[in-house]
Amino acid sequence: MMKQKIFAAAVAAPFLMTGTSVLGAAKTSVESGMEMFNDSKLGSSSNESSCNSCHAGGKGLENAGEKKKLSKLVNKCLVGQMAGEKIDGRTVAMRSLKMYIKSLSN
Ligand code: HEC
Repeated sequence: MMKQKIFAAAVAAPFLMTGTSVLGAAKTSVESGMEMFNDSKLGSSSNESSCNSCHAGGKGLENAGEKKKLSKLVNKCLVGQMAGEKIDGRTVAMRSLKMYIKSLSN
């Protein structure tokens, strides 16, 4: 039993790392936030939109930096507008995305 679990983890780990280069980024940064903002495949989005399609140059996000539930608002768009999957609010990915959004609203 134990051996099987270890084997499964060893097979899955490299795949997860290469498959999610941005989502799996180790450090929070405005740059990776910007990449995600422009990525039409963010959250495995199944349509052609990226955040930037609707919020080009920070359009509609002028006050977003002050919102307490920013992760929720981001996920609302990610799921509702982009037909993608939520990103956990505690991840480096979400923190980077929020960092970039805040940089747009200043
Ligand atoms: C198809 C267009 C569309 C896409 C794509 C889209 N949004 Fe939005 N977004 C909207 C609209 C319209 C609103 C305002 C209405 C609402 O709250 O649903 C909004 C609202 C928001 C808000 C709340 C702003 C505020 O001040 O209350 C945030 C934050 C946001 N979007 C971030 C994002 C992020 C990040 C992405 C990419 C993951 C994204 N949006 C993708 C259309 C879009």
